[in-house]
Amino acid sequence: MPINRRFTLVRRPDGMPVANDFRLVAEPTPALEEGQFLLRNHYASLDPAIRGWMDDAPSYLPPIRLGDPVRATTVGVVAESRSDAFPVGSWASGLNAIEDYSLGAAGGFTSPVDPDAVSSVTHYLSAVGAIGLTAYFALLEVGRPAAGETVLVSGAAGAVGSLVGQIAKLRGCRTVGIAGGPEKCARLIRNYGYDAAIDYRGKSPDALDAAIRAAAPGGVDIQFENVGGAILDAGLLSLNPKGRVVLCGLISQYNSDPIPLSNIWRLIVQGARMEGFILTQFIPRFGEAIPELAAWVKDGTLRVDEHVDTGIDNALPAFLRLFEGSNEGKMILKIAED
Ligand SMILES: NC(=O)c1ccc[n+]([C@@H]2O[C@H](COP(=O)([O-])OP(=O)(O)OC[C@H]3O[C@@H](n4cnc5c(N)ncnc54)[C@H](OP(=O)(O)O)[C@@H]3O)[C@@H](O)[C@H]2O)c1
Repeated sequence: MPINRRFTLVRRPDGMPVANDFRLVAEPTPALEEGQFLLRNHYASLDPAIRGWMDDAPSYLPPIRLGDPVRATTVGVVAESRSDAFPVGSWASGLNAIEDYSLGAAGGFTSPVDPDAVSSVTHYLSAVGAIGLTAYFALLEVGRPAAGETVLVSGAAGAVGSLVGQIAKLRGCRTVGIAGGPEKCARLIRNYGYDAAIDYRGKSPDALDAAIRAAAPGGVDIQFENVGGAILDAGLLSLNPKGRVVLCGLISQYNSDPIPLSNIWRLIVQGARMEGFILTQFIPRFGEAIPELAAWVKDGTLRVDEHVDTGIDNALPAFLRLFEGSNEGKMILKIAED
């Protein structure tokens, strides 16, 4: 039996996660029952949402139980199988955990994936997976962009934000991105085609408001929110009549108490709409988007940046990059060699 190293949650984090909240345990893999298979995880997707799953709070998924490995989407190769749908050597991806091996079963959360349909299997964790689907459906179905409109994106250099900016450009919009630091702001324009970039770091709410007004002199039609807090509040001041605020994420609030919003009244006076988005609502429509996203990635229409750290021992520092802002693209943990 192979040994399975599992990055387990042993204590619920109070604020930013720390090493003592986790333990790396090694266990033998289980014997397979009929219909089951063992997936050798090669890559795990590190997502801000994982922080929410560590809390003992109701959400769209149950909390990770103490003693369980930290839940994450993985992509890997079937190592052992008693399922015809998952032959040994085939690739598969699904909601598993940060561990060497995940137990799967036909009809579960793991699906076969075709490594030849993408230039890198990691794309199943980024542009052709949940990240691309989030950018696609949240922008197109919740934001409903029209050509000529201005789209303001926070967390614009990140995995979701970099794709939102590019898809908005494909729809003929003007794009303004907000990110941390001059290097990321340069990347917004160089790599993702943003028309303007705003460095939020060190800016007071008034300075942020002024920077958004300068970058979007005609106002903002769609505010695509990945960050929340002071950035969301400042953006509301530039919202146009019938503007749409797409609440995709609030990463600035995941490790602390939320700050109150002062400018929510703008929704009233602008007849604007703020709508939350959760990707699982669009599961029945994934089949529409995946071929389009895959084609855009393959022909270079979409630029996909991935930040791959290696080793299950590095799970925590790699995860914390998301909150420090030191990830340069979709944050992925490499667990095994391809
Ligand atoms: N609703 C859904 O179904 C769904 C699905 C996927 C993702 N999301 C959400 O989408 C957002 C982006 O996720 P992602 O996977 O693409 O991550 P990401 O943007 O690649 O990485 C997170 C980025 O957030 C920024 N950040 C972190 N803490 C911040 C703070 N306190 N203030 C301002 N910026 C901060 C950092 O960029 P800077 O260096 O620019 O600060 C960091 O690089 C998250 O809020 C996530 O929860 C939602």
